[in-house]
Amino acid sequence: MSFVSGRTGVWLMGARGSVATTAITGALAIRAGLAAPDGCVTELFDLPWLPPIGSLVFGGHDISDLPLPKKAEALGAAGVLPARLAAALASDLADVDASILPLPSSVDDIARDIAAFRDRFSLDRVVVINVASTEPVPSQDLSLVAVDDLPSSSRAAHAAFTAGCAFVDFTPSTGARLPALDALAREHGVPYGGNDGKTGETLVKSVLAPMFAMRHLRVRSWSGLNLLGGGDGAALADPAANAAKTASKQRVLADTLGYEPQGTTRIDYVETLGDFKAAWDLISFTGFLGTSMRMEFTWHGCDSALAAPLILDLARLLAAAHAAGRAGPLPELAFFFKDPIGTAPSALADQWTLLLSFLEDLSHTLSGTTPASPAPPLTRSGSGADPGAHASAAARSAASPVASAEGRGDARSSAASVAGATPADAPGGDSAETRDRDGGAA
Ligand SMILES: NC(=O)c1ccc[n+]([C@@H]2O[C@H](COP(=O)([O-])OP(=O)(O)OC[C@H]3O[C@@H](n4cnc5c(N)ncnc54)[C@H](O)[C@@H]3O)[C@@H](O)[C@H]2O)c1
Repeated sequence: MSFVSGRTGVWLMGARGSVATTAITGALAIRAGLAAPDGCVTELFDLPWLPPIGSLVFGGHDISDLPLPKKAEALGAAGVLPARLAAALASDLADVDASILPLPSSVDDIARDIAAFRDRFSLDRVVVINVASTEPVPSQDLSLVAVDDLPSSSRAAHAAFTAGCAFVDFTPSTGARLPALDALAREHGVPYGGNDGKTGETLVKSVLAPMFAMRHLRVRSWSGLNLLGGGDGAALADPAANAAKTASKQRVLADTLGYEPQGTTRIDYVETLGDFKAAWDLISFTGFLGTSMRMEFTWHGCDSALAAPLILDLARLLAAAHAAGRAGPLPELAFFFKDPIGTAPSALADQWTLLLSFLEDLSHTLSGTTPASPAPPLTRSGSGADPGAHASAAARSAASPVASAEGRGDARSSAASVAGATPADAPGGDSAETRDRDGGAA
């Protein structure tokens, strides 16, 4: 098999932020056997052609100079990650911190830093992931702007492409969403994905909205209120950044329902909540003979704990797509994003189906088989040897339709079982790590 050979680097823009620090700490903890990869979608399957999580090498840019071990310690004290992990991994985190550099002002220098990181660690490929603070919606036509005057997220994409690296925008910022950057990615033969990781309220919306549509129930209004602290919450207190985020969160409704119900999504900054977000949604709808009904849900999520495993998934998947010769946008990764690039479905079940076929395609390409060959490309994980091998029963049933050569089941119902299950629902799903979480406030 021709796996994604060699070493893969992950260059994080915003490398000292909450999401980045949680992702790095998590990868180091998984490498040390101190944690299971709960929340990592790619760990649902045996995908031997992906770079192992523990092999990823991290670096990045940030405008903050708070050292990574200190940031991890603060996240430990806040219950975002287990405090004992931050302490046990302090020296590994300090090693990674040495590869986190101040943000240069020119795109050329950003690209040079990324290339130097690749050379220093003899990396075969680097995936650049933007997890920096959300930017305001641009107020001017960016096609006329000089490269060094582009928003920071677009400069990051430009630098990634010219350095020959895949790029992911996990934020709602502009990123690679400019025709000139799309052309640049294709010219350099590198793939990119985005935008804005789907980790909470929008994830639930992408499951519920298709349900109303499929049952032919008319959604009259859908209003959401998100309360959030932390660095992300503080950045979103700026009305312009807030506008970028709320647009990205509301889009799924029009896309899945085919019309825009009344209502808006609001994000309010509540400092004391830190990284723990509360989202409350009220949906009013009508059914047969116009009878009015309502449903509401409340989501209590730890944003960085939800986002970090997806960062590891995306790093591995973009590395694989790059190795497989993919260039340009990857709409197949819509499952991970609130506002997917390219033409992609909005319902989570359809996005799951698309992701599975993407994995199968990659599997065939990277293992040198053809789609007609008998080799089953996707098998469920679960040797039990590694702490991550305890994928929940629900996840296993989700994996099983594509697990065997006997046939592929209904991926939509698989998606529904994944979306509807929590680790606590499933036998063995409640890991020691989760139970041990020091001071978890969720
Ligand atoms: N946590 C989630 O569930 C989630 C979901 C979707 C999107 N996101 C997005 O991910 C991003 C990161 O979230 P977070 O909670 O880690 O925020 P954070 O505020 O903790 O971290 C952002 C980091 O970016 C740095 N930064 C700011 N401008 C920069 C620049 N131009 N270049 C490099 N670094 C820069 C900051 O110093 C900070 O360290 C945000 O844009 C957020 O909207 C998060």
